[in-house]
Amino acid sequence: MTGHHDGQNWPGHYDEALAPAAHQPESEHGMTRRQLMRHAGWFGGAVVLTAAGGEVISHIAGSRDSSTEGVARVAVAREGALRFVQVSDSHIGFQGPANMDVAGSFTHAIDQVNSLGFRPDFVMHSGDLTHLSTAGQFDQVKQMMSGMRTDRVFTVPGEHDSIGDAGRAYRRTFGKGTLGDGWYSFGTHGVHFVALVNTLSLEKLGHLGNEQIDFVRRDLAGLSSDTPVVVFSHIPLFAMYPKWGWSTDDALRVIALLRRFSSATCLNGHVHQLFTKTEGNITFHSATTTAYPLPKPGRAPAPTPQVVPARQLKDALGIRTVDYREGNRELAVKDQRLA
Ligand SMILES: [Fe+2]
Ligand SMILES: [Fe+2]
Repeated sequence: MTGHHDGQNWPGHYDEALAPAAHQPESEHGMTRRQLMRHAGWFGGAVVLTAAGGEVISHIAGSRDSSTEGVARVAVAREGALRFVQVSDSHIGFQGPANMDVAGSFTHAIDQVNSLGFRPDFVMHSGDLTHLSTAGQFDQVKQMMSGMRTDRVFTVPGEHDSIGDAGRAYRRTFGKGTLGDGWYSFGTHGVHFVALVNTLSLEKLGHLGNEQIDFVRRDLAGLSSDTPVVVFSHIPLFAMYPKWGWSTDDALRVIALLRRFSSATCLNGHVHQLFTKTEGNITFHSATTTAYPLPKPGRAPAPTPQVVPARQLKDALGIRTVDYREGNRELAVKDQRLA
């Protein structure tokens, strides 16, 4: 481990061979994009261009944004800044008219992650990695994610990843270093991350269970209340639409533990559409999918894959980047279409 990852714990990831991003403490001025790209290559692509106020004005390495062409204006290394990506619901193995090529869509999403113009500190896949939990699908999605240029890949299971075996095949592939049914936590850049499993004892709604909630209680106990906390789960921890199972029946017990923090952010998948809701100190963000859209709550008899024209499909799919600068209270969540 080097640079800002010193002394940090990264459980739940599956690939330690990926090189950590190097530190790049110096500012750079007046380099052409080509020079900068070459330079960034020496440092593992860890350089990100920002304006003095912290706003990104340009990107390096493969950005499709035409504003990055020509001479780079300002190049300030984001020391102390954290950037990660959330992808969700790739459903590798799904076959149906709602998306005839989910592997192609996920490849597209991975390409998009690799052309962000910065190397994310980590990527979180928030579940439904596979469609049917087969060994072949787990192998395929793991193989595909190994092509993401990032330091670490984390996952939480979706209900599609635990079909028939209570998540055993999932944990064989992705559960290294995790606790219980596959939950874990880690900290980096002053942010504390908790990854939860709420898809295993699934009757109608998501469920966490006593053992996992006790883990969260112990895990958060030592943190000061000004530590930003981010919680990942597949199924939402808020009541997005309980009628369709888009809720977690015992989530309020975790929400109660998050109340004392000045900033808590819950990031989920499962609902295959963007949705954001704030309740006091806690903000919930449902992510979209890379596979196929689901209907808006209540707008269909059931949450079944929606067949839409090809162009609309691309608009419905996407990835999410999250940006955090140490010392700030809020995380900046930005969703991008797969287009
Ligand atoms: Fe899903
Ligand atoms: Fe799901």
